[in-house]
Amino acid sequence: MSDKQKIVEEILKLKEQRRAIIIAHNYQREEVQEIADFTGDSLELSRQAAEVDCDVIVFCGVNFMAESASILSPEKTVLLPELEANCPMADMIRVSGERKVWKTFPGYEEQPAFVFPHDFTLLDMKEKYPGVPVVTYVNTTADVKAESDICCTSANVVKVVESVDSDTVICVPDRNLSAWAQKNTGKKIITWDGFCHVHDRVTADDVERARKEHPDAVLMAHPECRLEVLELADHVTSTSGMLRYAKASDAKEFIVGTEVGLLYRLRKENPDKIFHPLRKDMICPNMKKTRLESVLFALKEMKHEVKVPEDIRIKAVKALDKMLEIK
Ligand code: 13P
Ligand code: SF4
Repeated sequence: MSDKQKIVEEILKLKEQRRAIIIAHNYQREEVQEIADFTGDSLELSRQAAEVDCDVIVFCGVNFMAESASILSPEKTVLLPELEANCPMADMIRVSGERKVWKTFPGYEEQPAFVFPHDFTLLDMKEKYPGVPVVTYVNTTADVKAESDICCTSANVVKVVESVDSDTVICVPDRNLSAWAQKNTGKKIITWDGFCHVHDRVTADDVERARKEHPDAVLMAHPECRLEVLELADHVTSTSGMLRYAKASDAKEFIVGTEVGLLYRLRKENPDKIFHPLRKDMICPNMKKTRLESVLFALKEMKHEVKVPEDIRIKAVKALDKMLEIK
């Protein structure tokens, strides 16, 4: 038996003993996706976390996802196998207190130094636009969700913004997702200036080059990409939206404008189709931190438990529940 098989066997044994479920985001390493009970986009994973029957959730993703699971299922033990698996975009917004200054993004040191541009907090923003509802992308920490009216994901942002009873809406923290919502709704969007470094690095020139290289391919792009990219795409959707679209499409070749981890499922579920990454370096280092060994460690040691303080949870769950009510 190979070392990998031994680890997988041990994980499966412990999983049963602990009454645990392994949930993995579509960007996780293939070997982690393989052992997961559920794999999906942020919206699907939120729904799973709220409904699944188990004692322990091992969340293979980044910390805001494990926090959401803990918010929605406070009676369960939620484990994040890699404590350092965080989301730089989620760290670009704070409710109050010291702002965080990013010089370079961890794992993307070749990027020119970038100084976090905000000199105010979410509370300052709410004060600046009194009464304007706040729509918060799930890629945020629990305290930011707690200060929001409703959450959204990349799969439902347009529906969520349209559901809000106001012509003007604050959308945080992703400026690209906000631009997409602005383009696809009749609302005035006030945005925060955050972004995902994996998607924001793609430009219209990359699209032109990829189209030249693969002239027959259909281009799918994630709404965390810049608007200049989204306007050139054939289809804009979440990661699981891309899985559904590629399966249903008659096209045989696709350019994929999101983190390269999605290519594993795309290829597995569509063996007769060809998938090219829009850029080969669309890799989220934080999503890649979790390995089989990390999952085994989490189940053995029951670490690292993610628990949101009850006063924050009670406020944050309202914003998440409101989103989950939208079909
Ligand atoms: P979705 O899978 O919800 O589209 O999310 C993308 C993402 O960047 C998660 O970190
Ligand atoms: Fe955050 Fe982007 Fe990584 Fe998703 S892909 S976890 S948004 S940095």
